[in-house]
Amino acid sequence: MIQKQKGCNDIYGREAKIWKYVESVIDATMSKYNYTYIRTPLFEATELFHRGIGENTDIVSKETYDFVDRGGRSITLRPEGTAGVVRSYIENKMYGDPNQPVKVYYNGTMYRYERPQAGRDRELTQFGVEVLGSDDPLSDAEVISLAVNIYKMLGLQDIKVWINSLGDNESRKNYREALVDYFKPHIDELCDDCKVRFENNPLRILDCKVDASKEILLNAPKTIDYLNDDSKKRFEEVKDYLDIMQIKYEVNPNIVRGLDYYSHTVFEIEARVEGFGSNNILGGGGRYNGLCSQLGGPDVSCVGFASGIGRLVLALEKEQIKLPIEWGIDLFLMYVNDEEKKYATYLAQELRMAGFSVDTEYTDRSLKSQFKQAERLEAKYIAVLNSKDLNNNEVSIKNTKTKEEEIISLDVLIYYLDEKLSGDDYGDECLCGHCHDEEESDGSCGGDCHCHH
Ligand code: HAM
Repeated sequence: MIQKQKGCNDIYGREAKIWKYVESVIDATMSKYNYTYIRTPLFEATELFHRGIGENTDIVSKETYDFVDRGGRSITLRPEGTAGVVRSYIENKMYGDPNQPVKVYYNGTMYRYERPQAGRDRELTQFGVEVLGSDDPLSDAEVISLAVNIYKMLGLQDIKVWINSLGDNESRKNYREALVDYFKPHIDELCDDCKVRFENNPLRILDCKVDASKEILLNAPKTIDYLNDDSKKRFEEVKDYLDIMQIKYEVNPNIVRGLDYYSHTVFEIEARVEGFGSNNILGGGGRYNGLCSQLGGPDVSCVGFASGIGRLVLALEKEQIKLPIEWGIDLFLMYVNDEEKKYATYLAQELRMAGFSVDTEYTDRSLKSQFKQAERLEAKYIAVLNSKDLNNNEVSIKNTKTKEEEIISLDVLIYYLDEKLSGDDYGDECLCGHCHDEEESDGSCGGDCHCHH
């Protein structure tokens, strides 16, 4: 049997419903913050990532999926979304759009050749945002608040926002010199990769997985001590805006991020979930003011973040968060003979067109098996179509929760279902935080609401 590749996942059934729900919360939150959807290609010229993310990063030097296409071009499957979005921004001259800054979001597949484990895949799905053309510290804070709001909307309460600043060009140059001075006498203690990093980009030594726990790395100089006055002031402004938005954060001078394009603000958001393991960073990002000009575009300032959806779903599962997902269908139509089946076919079509989720029997099983099937599908109502009732223009309909059964005229079936499904029996008063109905005692809709979030 041919099996899926290492680090890839098949997402289906209940898990797929959770993914779709998470994506619906992402879409809804993005529109609240006025970010518009952008879809860029899954593969780009290899050079884009080498120039954009940095030759010496682990992502580019060890993790990209590269290939030569049939036309002899060097192609890379995107390992992240930022470089492609910036390429698209430049190529489509979005900087000329009167609407500035450009605020976009994406949700798509990325590829990294990593060692697969829980929360670390080779084919991963990231959602993320990029704000292009704003140097305002408010944009940094807005991006952080947007990420936090999505996690909170999904029910994750215990999350930690770590922020740091790498500073402007001058600050980063001073810091680089400090790192070189610091590591020089200890070069023999570093791994072979770090010896190369020392020559090319000493900042990358700080995210080495091999040397991570060594004293020498732990005691290395911190970026925050090398910020010039402008960079310090800017960092204070970001923090002020976060305070205004009531977003809790902690400064963590060890956050440097594993991609070369960052300047000023960098941040990571951690899920404090028991048993979640080491891959508990839900998302991260920061400001990348030099990237656009480096890729041949205008010198515009940008900020963004990205988050792995797989990791997020894992956190929701570990926290056993009850999501307001509509698991079941509205109605299951049952029948025994051919004439009833034809009517079921007609009725299913009518009711689906009227907006109900309806399923029926496809394998001519016994009524007993059909009841079982309705149960498996978590049908809220079942209708048993029998020739006698149909001849009287009637149908027998049963509420699977209350077990209440009624015979009603087929002429009023749509109105009947409409009233019942939006009525008391199935959660009209919802507190899920997404619809605007009243709160229930436990502060949740219990998954029964009809807010369709
Ligand atoms: P990143 O930190 O490389 O940043 O990835 C962001 C998030 O993607 C991580 O926090 C994690 O949730 C998820 N992720 C990364 N690698 C994997 C993996 N192998 N398996 C599962 N999830 C993973 C970026 O990608 C930047 N482009 C973020 C950004 C946007 N910065 C500015 N704008």
